[in-house]
Amino acid sequence: MFFLIINIALLLALVIFLLSFIFHFLSIVLKGQAPYIMSQPEAVRRAVAELDLVQESILAYELGSGDAPFLRRLVKKFPQARAMGVEHSLVPYVLAKLVTLFNKRIEITKKNFYKIDLSQADLIYCYLNIDSMAKLEKKFLAEAKDGLLVVSYNFPLPTVEPYKVLRIHKMPLYFYKISQDRK
Ligand SMILES: C[S@@+](CC[C@H](N)C(=O)[O-])C[C@H]1O[C@@H](n2cnc3c(N)ncnc32)[C@H](O)[C@@H]1O
Repeated sequence: MFFLIINIALLLALVIFLLSFIFHFLSIVLKGQAPYIMSQPEAVRRAVAELDLVQESILAYELGSGDAPFLRRLVKKFPQARAMGVEHSLVPYVLAKLVTLFNKRIEITKKNFYKIDLSQADLIYCYLNIDSMAKLEKKFLAEAKDGLLVVSYNFPLPTVEPYKVLRIHKMPLYFYKISQDRK
């Protein structure tokens, strides 16, 4: 009986994993959403190292958090920062929950980042794709705080000029300050 229950549980876990993989694949193909690929550790290290936050008690987001590498490093450097990872796919979401289980300053939420309120964000990290950055630029300009810092790995915002671009093994890391004067 015990082994039967274990087998059923394993089978269920496998079915859930396969279904979430299929949903993830379909949202990439049909909706143009970014797949789950991790940032290079060196890019995350440089993204955090370059930040010189005047006010440390900031609210930071990693949009499409995956396993939240940026937030995990950020809260080590800035112990006052509050960190919010937003991930809509089940497998990376569960992974993020597991790796941040004992980290009380990082919250991971399973949501579509286009549907969350970003008006309180001070800092946002993204590693997404061209389409997502175009949609997010509109969202940032519509609702973000003046002076929001955005760091994007590999994919630029279409019209906002970065104030700094680093090359990490040839891949660009863009730094932006969103000014609401542009509206
Ligand atoms: C390229 S991965 C980056 C993961 C992690 N931030 C990193 O840098 O290693 C992009 C992640 O964004 C998630 N994603 C894509 N579109 C999303 C959306 N609209 N809402 C929430 N998450 C999304 C994907 O599921 C994927 O895990």
